[in-house]
Amino acid sequence: GKVRAPTHIISTISDDRGEEPCYAGVPMSSIIEQGYGVGDVISLLWFKRSLPRYCTQFIEICIMLCADHGPCVSGAHNTIVTARAGKDLVSSLVSGLLTIGPRFGGAIDDAARYFKDAYDRNLTPYEFVEAMKKKGIRVPGIGHRIKRGDNRDKRVELLQKFARTHFPSVKYMEYAVQVETYTLSKSNNLVLNVDGAIGSLFLDLLSGSGMFTKQEIDEIIEIGYLNGLFVLARSIGLIGHTFDQKRLKQPLYRHPWEDVLYTK
Ligand code: ACO
Ligand code: LMR
Repeated sequence: GKVRAPTHIISTISDDRGEEPCYAGVPMSSIIEQGYGVGDVISLLWFKRSLPRYCTQFIEICIMLCADHGPCVSGAHNTIVTARAGKDLVSSLVSGLLTIGPRFGGAIDDAARYFKDAYDRNLTPYEFVEAMKKKGIRVPGIGHRIKRGDNRDKRVELLQKFARTHFPSVKYMEYAVQVETYTLSKSNNLVLNVDGAIGSLFLDLLSGSGMFTKQEIDEIIEIGYLNGLFVLARSIGLIGHTFDQKRLKQPLYRHPWEDVLYTK
């Protein structure tokens, strides 16, 4: 038979060897001719399959809603300071991206993990939240610096509205809302945040679309695909902040002494 030299890399998502590049087997000409959007491209390159329109639209809504949240958040702040230090686009971008993590924008995967585990084990919101408290873990997807029970995050409401209209089931999201009702009874800042909304709704997308096996869903959650949505989305805003600072010819940033408590 044929003898093939062992390869050093295995790749399964794209192929550039033919006449035209293919994403998960779909040629670029089909992607363009059939009017695919960025949600379809994400479906092909991340999930290796075409997803129904409501799923790709949901992905695109996540990207649009998370693209930016003003200059004061951790990511934009870092990017602005870096751009003002005269650094290039990539440096300014990654400086902002590096703040994405368990407190800021990168709580989506953990929110999905914890909400799924609690829902699948039939824990009441009270049992779930109190068990997390005992373990000393903040509930991922809950809490916000400026959003409150009486000043909800519009992005969360928009995601929920879309899903309630288009998803076959929103059971994980409804569970997250019940968790929020309980946490809000403890403190007014413990709202369901955009990470928690995306995390719980993506569980509904994965389990309700019929496009993924149980094993595939577990793998997606375990590997942690979902923070990628925030990373991708916020890159749009961070690039914008870099251009903004350069356009405005902003000088080197130095934090004012008055805003630092110098103490021993
Ligand atoms: N679960 C349980 N209790 C909480 C939570 C939570 N998620 N968040 C705050 N609390 C409680 C705690 O008792 C906390 O006291 P502690 O410091 O002793 O733990 C108390 O509220 C005070 O919290 P604050 O310090 O006022 O909260 P802060 O405004 O600093 O934090 C944050 C906001 C970082 C979002 C926080 O709520 C949190 O860690 N949430 C979980 C992670 C998360 O979902 N991050 C994504 C936010 S959305 C985004 O970045 C796009
Ligand atoms: C964001 O999208 O950056 C935020 O929800 C965080 C914030 O503090 O506004």
